[in-house]
Amino acid sequence: MGLGGMGSRIARRLADAGHELTVWNRTRSKADALGVPVADTPAAAAAGSEVVITMVADPLALQTVTEGPEGVAAGAGDETTLIDMSTVGPAAIERLRGVVSAPLLDAPVLGSLSEAESGTLHIFVGGEREDYERWQGLLSVLGTPIRVGPSGAGASAKLVANTTLVDVIATIGEALALAEALGLSRDAAFAVLATTALGDQAERRRPALESGEFPPRFPLRLARKDADLIAEQGLDLRVTDAARSWLHEATDDDQDYSAVLRVILERATRR
Ligand SMILES: NC(=O)c1ccc[n+]([C@@H]2O[C@H](COP(=O)([O-])OP(=O)(O)OC[C@H]3O[C@@H](n4cnc5c(N)ncnc54)[C@H](OP(=O)(O)O)[C@@H]3O)[C@@H](O)[C@H]2O)c1
Repeated sequence: MGLGGMGSRIARRLADAGHELTVWNRTRSKADALGVPVADTPAAAAAGSEVVITMVADPLALQTVTEGPEGVAAGAGDETTLIDMSTVGPAAIERLRGVVSAPLLDAPVLGSLSEAESGTLHIFVGGEREDYERWQGLLSVLGTPIRVGPSGAGASAKLVANTTLVDVIATIGEALALAEALGLSRDAAFAVLATTALGDQAERRRPALESGEFPPRFPLRLARKDADLIAEQGLDLRVTDAARSWLHEATDDDQDYSAVLRVILERATRR
């Protein structure tokens, strides 16, 4: 369920590996494009399935797809395992646990479109060990699963990973803004960054920054959603709060999250 950038690639990989799929997506045309059976509702897709994989945008989307008379929970039998791969945070998984009687794994992923396509995602799994062992082979079609703890631990692990993601992009942006304000050329700034712990990341972002085009892999709106999920944990995480404030100033929702670099460079002017 959920055939956006990530879900469509996951579905394609599973189909190519010989699994029999029924898919569902809110926007039906994306489901039709896959060339496998399409269900009219999440409940209908779940009915009779051994395993249901959800890969949707955010906690609200997960509720919409899993709850109510047309949701996954209404169609899944006790023998159906539900694997949620969306990045939704531990509270959404706890809510889902209250809704489904079936075994549940939370299994969000690190890696983007190309990793989903090539089956090289890192998959952080929370849930019962026996459920994990049962579905480890299936998840291995998509990447490298690691069981990080009980239910909700995968969702938590993903927030930990994405804290580094949003913090690093903001740090690179601020370093470049500082370089510019101090009169260093862009070349010199990147040469300096190359000698630091963030050298690889800075170099990776350079072509987009220089061309001014940020084709979406991980859209900005999803990075902002993740920064919000981290903030909801209620900790005094000052660096991540600062990165989040930059993501909230950026409006290029459907561009890659690295488009926040442009916003930082435009706005981190002298006070
Ligand atoms: N893109 C990445 O690089 C990346 C990497 C790691 C993890 N993730 C995470 O993976 C998840 C999916 O990401 P994505 O890149 O595939 O996002 P996406 O391309 O925006 O796709 C989002 C999916 O969620 C569905 N959806 C959104 N709101 C919905 C609602 N209210 N009811 C039902 N369905 C709804 C969309 O349906 P429609 O097609 O109808 O809009 C679409 O299928 C997110 O949690 C994201 O944070 C993404």
